[in-house]
Amino acid sequence: MSKKRVLVIDDEPDIRELVEITLGRMQLDTDCAENITRAKQLLQQQTYDLCLTDMHLPDGNGLDLVEFIQQHFPRLPVAVITAHGSIDTAIESMKAGAFDFISKPVDLNVLRKLVNTAIQSSQLPGNEKLPTESFIIGQSKAIQDLTRSIQKLARSQAPIYISGESGSGKELVARSIHELGPRASKPFIAVNCGAIPRELMESEFFGHKKGSFTGAHQDKLGLFQAAEGGTLFFDEVADLPLDMQVKLLRAIQEKSVRPVGASEELVTDVRILCATHKSLETEVKESRFRQDLFYRLNVIQLSVPALRQRREDIALLATHLLQKISSEMQLPAPKLSNAALQTLNDYYFPGNVRELENILERAFTLCENDEIDVGDLQLQTDQTSFVTFEKIENNKNPNQTNTENKNNRIDYPARCAEYSSLDDYLLDVEKEILCDALEKVRWNKTLAAKKLGITFRSLRYRLQKLGLDDE
Ligand SMILES: Nc1ncnc2c1ncn2[C@@H]1O[C@H](COP(=O)(O)OP(=O)(O)OP(=O)(O)O)[C@@H](O)[C@H]1O
Ligand SMILES: [Mg+2]
Repeated sequence: MSKKRVLVIDDEPDIRELVEITLGRMQLDTDCAENITRAKQLLQQQTYDLCLTDMHLPDGNGLDLVEFIQQHFPRLPVAVITAHGSIDTAIESMKAGAFDFISKPVDLNVLRKLVNTAIQSSQLPGNEKLPTESFIIGQSKAIQDLTRSIQKLARSQAPIYISGESGSGKELVARSIHELGPRASKPFIAVNCGAIPRELMESEFFGHKKGSFTGAHQDKLGLFQAAEGGTLFFDEVADLPLDMQVKLLRAIQEKSVRPVGASEELVTDVRILCATHKSLETEVKESRFRQDLFYRLNVIQLSVPALRQRREDIALLATHLLQKISSEMQLPAPKLSNAALQTLNDYYFPGNVRELENILERAFTLCENDEIDVGDLQLQTDQTSFVTFEKIENNKNPNQTNTENKNNRIDYPARCAEYSSLDDYLLDVEKEILCDALEKVRWNKTLAAKKLGITFRSLRYRLQKLGLDDE
């Protein structure tokens, strides 16, 4: 196999030399440039597998070079070398498309890891590669755009904040980013930040040395070490206590961790992804989440659309999920009757794809013959409107299984008898749904309308009708 070639751009001869020697020992060929003009010349003449550039160069900014490469050589990974402490520059460059950053003074250990990941990334096949396990189903524009972003972002090492409603597929997105990237053969570890007891958190994250506290009978590896070379996915990151937020921030910034009771820091190489169904922006505004950590985690934001915002995917997803459910039971997949599909198409899906999965799982066990009909869906409908609504559980128990989920279903028709007319009953249901949605977004009507999949005007009209409008 031919030797890989790296382009190094730095105006300091010492750094060029240090990098060249290090890369030479890794059996890589290196070309050096002292400024942007020369770098651009070399890029036209040679094919490279990686480009490493300083930020402050005599004839311009490294950021411009990152943008130039993004535009003309989109498959070439470029990493930036930043001055110590200038993390803002690093974040800017990753937003512009840099694959990763390394800060000065250059730690050779970190450099070697970065180079290895980059070389693997440049060998990845193009867009034709799709993950097998975590395949994201959907033909809607929103999902197609999301899939394209994932394919592009998988190569980069930038932290990504995945936002989206409960059950919309955030973890699936995180897994796909991992599986499509250069870290695919290394571990993907999902951590539910809300599920780890506070007092064990530091040791869970960073590990501990034997004897560092009562009960530490032997050395223990933390999640960072377990995910070495791979990806750490911090799920429900908004649930991290403030003191852990500080520690996580340090680990991300320094790319190293210190196990509890250890005197030495350990260099780590993990990609950080995170998600939460809460709004991190709101958490920051209300001082429950540190602004600086948010800034580090939110280098790139991906938002996963709610299922009701992409109804055209419902049929496709239903077929896929039924296939999955039935093959687990080694039975043939049932079909959905047209009426059942119509009912699903009209449903609100507060619990998104996970809820669809639960509904179909139950329907699968209820249905006779090999067709699922409206009744099997158990979404009690009447002639005027559907009246089943599953609460979005805000503080979900992370260990909750699908079956437990089902038991949280609130069936309003059970209360129907309390009302003198169906209309009164429906108004009450509507009121409850609107209040619930509004409360979740702190009575921001624009957001609430968006969440409910209705227009702002329609929301105002409904609030007026229910006497809930404060204006
Ligand atoms: N587009 C999709 N294609 C196929 N399956 C999907 C899709 N989106 C979600 N799923 C499936 O729906 C379920 C819920 O997805 P996932 O766990 O990723 O959601 P989440 O956003 O992380 O939810 P939560 O906020 O509750 O943690 C999973 O079984 C997942 O495989
Ligand atoms: Mg999740």
